[in-house]
Amino acid sequence: MKMVKPINLALVALAGITFACGGGEKTSETTSTPVVVAPAKEISLEEKHQDDPIYIKGLAKLKTSDCTSCHMVERKIVGPSYADVAAKYEATDENIDMLAKKVVEGGVGTWGEIPMTPHPAVSMEDAKDMVRYILLLK
Ligand code: HEC
Repeated sequence: MKMVKPINLALVALAGITFACGGGEKTSETTSTPVVVAPAKEISLEEKHQDDPIYIKGLAKLKTSDCTSCHMVERKIVGPSYADVAAKYEATDENIDMLAKKVVEGGVGTWGEIPMTPHPAVSMEDAKDMVRYILLLK
């Protein structure tokens, strides 16, 4: 038993050296002339849809209300991001009706414990246009 320990240590040390050499070889493989690969420019969901009439109309209506204080396009703040909402629902008439109703009446429980305030000043027609805009953001 007493002989085992030093042998093991030697093996560990050897493995360490081998590993270090392997790592060294890798860095020497990298060429001195850097290959510049320009990353494909990521276009935002907003840029992607900015010319769509549904987008333009819905966004204009959305700006007349307080939606932006709780929602952002690609980041969750108080409410879910529009992109998350768009990913969850298909833009069917049924979903548009249901979500527009929720915007007008308010609601809670689909995305968490924080409720969305009701928007009685927003007509169902305007709410539907806002929802059509949101569901486009995918
Ligand atoms: C006070 C903050 C707040 C405001 C203002 C607000 N929302 Fe929301 N919204 C939320 C929260 C929180 C949720 C998630 C509710 C839930 O979990 O059911 C939500 C959810 C939603 C959903 C998804 C509903 C579902 O059932 O999946 C839509 C669509 C939406 N909001 C649109 C709007 C629009 C359009 C406006 C502006 C007219 C607006 N919101 C204003 C907080 C807000």
